[in-house]
Formats: sequence, structure tokens, C-alpha cells
Amino acid sequence: MTVLRSSFTQLARNTCNATPTKKIALNTAASLYSQRRSISAFGYTQAGALVYHSYGPPTEKLSLHHYSIPPAYGNEITVKFLASPINPADINQIEGVYPSKPELTRNLGTAEPAAVGGNEGVVEVVAVGGKVQGWKKGDWAIMRSTKFGTWRTHASATAEQLLKVPSDGSVTPIQAATISVNPCTAYRMLKDFVPLKEGEWFIQNGANSGVGRAAIQLGRIWGLKSINVVRDRPDIDELREELEGLGADLVITDKELSDKSIKSRIERITGGKGVGLALNCVGGDSATNLMRNLKHGGKIVTYGAMAKKPVTVPASLFIFKNISCHGFWVSVWSDMYPKEKEEMVNEIFELYKSGQFKDVPIEKAIWKDDSEQSELLKAIEKSQTGFGGKKQVFVFDTK
Ligand SMILES: NC(=O)c1ccc[n+]([C@@H]2O[C@H](COP(=O)([O-])OP(=O)(O)OC[C@H]3O[C@@H](n4cnc5c(N)ncnc54)[C@H](OP(=O)(O)O)[C@@H]3O)[C@@H](O)[C@H]2O)c1
Repeated sequence: MTVLRSSFTQLARNTCNATPTKKIALNTAASLYSQRRSISAFGYTQAGALVYHSYGPPTEKLSLHHYSIPPAYGNEITVKFLASPINPADINQIEGVYPSKPELTRNLGTAEPAAVGGNEGVVEVVAVGGKVQGWKKGDWAIMRSTKFGTWRTHASATAEQLLKVPSDGSVTPIQAATISVNPCTAYRMLKDFVPLKEGEWFIQNGANSGVGRAAIQLGRIWGLKSINVVRDRPDIDELREELEGLGADLVITDKELSDKSIKSRIERITGGKGVGLALNCVGGDSATNLMRNLKHGGKIVTYGAMAKKPVTVPASLFIFKNISCHGFWVSVWSDMYPKEKEEMVNEIFELYKSGQFKDVPIEKAIWKDDSEQSELLKAIEKSQTGFGGKKQVFVFDTK
């Protein structure tokens, strides 16, 4: 055993200093040795990740890969995931139809170059290398940028990739894991395009989405009024009540939005002020109908394309109403304004802590050390079902 231990201690040292190819071989050897225990006797962390090698339907392209992470060395920080949501953009990324794609590499010891799915999540620090400053075991963090690959149990990161978040129990892992994409997108779209004042109105479709729910709540907190469009469904009254509970002033269906009577209804509820901003999650007819109900000079901001149909603008809306069309992508914004992103995240955490801002409804997909690929892929499949009502989130129950 002494001989074995020393040979693996040597292996750990060798791995840290090895070239990438040699490192994979050594990692694989250590992984085989310690099987699937999370932390081996020699400081190796055993990890699992949902990886893909090529683009296409996620349930066909993703596979569960096991690998080992050598002890944190130098500037490395070993982290353990606590929760990672499955967002529509993650699905589009694996389908190959999303502009931001992580590089496919052999860094995790896969036979084919691969990337890890997922872009958002919260981690807990489990070990720090000798040169790391300002981080300690037990700290929590979210990813500063997308493309990190968050559908995995553990990872090796650097401080530059992580943004520290409260680990004192004041926010939950779900709140931290889902803060950086949806609430931040809603925040920026309400602030950056039209200087809406208290009492002024915005309209949005996909109002029951993660972004939509965040927009309703931020709007309520900032004194804005919202008209919220959702797809019709058998339990529409339940959904209407739920969104009104978050602060929605009016909840209507796509069908009601397309009805001629909506114009006078909007005129009436806004007291003739009209609506200056539209947030478009859907595209197609739904987007056109949002625009038809904007006042002169109104702006539409497109951030999603759930209907997978183009945004069509009748010429009359450009000519006679001077409507302007804009787009927003939080990934680019976050990379351009890291300091402002940090401030915004902290502001939203304060809203969570004070109970003013509620979590998006979620369904937990528990990921254990011995979870099977098929169990994990069920959550991916569920996330793609329309009218699902709840965001699928991997919640990790690993060592
Ligand atoms: N640009 C950005 O920076 C940015 C940031 C965040 C999110 N997004 C995008 O925003 C969208 C929503 O993301 P999310 O995470 O908030 O979504 P989510 O919570 O998973 O909710 C999905 C939403 O899409 C609706 N939907 C699904 N299929 C639809 C269809 N065929 N036609 C119309 N509506 C449909 C759902 O309504 P039902 O209940 O009726 O199914 C629900 O409102 C996605 O397109 C995402 O990529 C963009």
C-alpha cells in the first residue's frame, strides 16, 4: 500500500506538471484507480459531466463522461457544482444553432474532442492551489461568462472565471444558479432601451418564462406597469393568478393580443398613455402583435425566438408609428461590462434576500455520484417540452 500510495502521489505531481496529452493519460489512470469516489485518497476529485462531441438533438448527442481532476495546483481552484439550470440557449448551443459555442477539446480525456453542456450554475470551492488569493474552501461562485460547461459535478477553474456570491445561507443554490442569465436580461432590457418612469407601461410575450417572470417582478419593484402575454392553455386562470401574484397588471393570451378589441383595452388601462416598450421572447405573429400595440416611437427588444419564426415588421409600423427594433444578448453585455454585471447581480441578490423577488418555479433533477446517463437526459428532454411550467435544474447530491 505504501508503494501504491507513493506512486499515486508521484502521479499527482506528474499530472500537474504534464503536457495536456500526458495529463489526460495520467488523469485516466488515476480515475481508473479510484473508481467513482468523489475525492480519492490522493487528492484526485472524481467528476462526471454531460458532454457532446458534435451538434444535434441534445438527448442524442449528450453522454455522461467520468474523469478525474488532479489536486488544485498553483492558480487552480477545484469546485463542486451545487445547481445548474437547463436553459433554452443551452439546448440551442448543443443543436448547433446558437452563435456562442464552446471549443471542443480533449481536456477531459474524452476519445473525441468534446464540450460540457450548460452555461449557468453555482459552485462551491472544495480546494485552492497555493497561488490562489482571496478564495477559500466553502466559498460559492457563479460563472463570470458563458461557455464554462456547467452540467458536471466538479471542475477545475481559475479565479478569473468565477464571481463570488453569498455562501452564508442568505440566498439558495437555486437563486444563485439562475441569477446571471434571466433576471439580468430582464433587468437590462427594462433599463437600457426606454427610460420608463414610474407608472409607465411595457408589454411582453413569453411572460411566464424565466425572463418574463423576472421582468414582471423588477417592473413591480420599480413602479412600472406590465401587460403580459402567454400562450393559451387549459389552466390559464391558474397561470394568470400566479403572474398577477408576481405583480403583473394584465395577463392576456396570444389570442387576446391578436384580437382587434385589445387596442381599446390597452388605451383604457394605460389611461391613454400607451405602451412604450415591448420585450419579445417569441417572434412570429406574437412579436408583430406586440409591435402593433406600441405607441408612436415605441421600441421592441427581441431577446428570444421560442416560436422559431422571424420577426416581421409591417412597413406601416415603421412609417406611421416610427417603431424601432432592437436586440439584446446578455452574454455579450456581461463580457463588456463585468463590473456593472457584478453590481447588478448583487442588487438582485438583495431583492431575493428581502423577499421582494421570487424564484422561478423549478423541477429538481437530482445528480448523484452514481446517476445514470438516462436519468440525467430525462431532465434535458423535459426542458424541451412546451407548456412545461417549471425550469429543469440539476441539483447535485455529490460528495
Ligand atoms: N438574449 C438573451 O440574452 C437571453 C437571455 C435569457 C434568455 N433568452 C431567451 O429567452 C427565451 C426564454 O428563456 P427562459 O430561460 O426565460 O425560458 P423558460 O423559463 O425555459 O421558458 C420558456 C418560455 O418559452 C415559451 N415557449 C416555449 N415554446 C414556445 C413556442 N413554440 N412558442 C411560444 N412560446 C414558447 C414558454 O411558454 P409555454 O409555457 O407556453 O410553453 C415559456 O414562456 C429563450 O429563447 C432564451 O434563449 C435570451
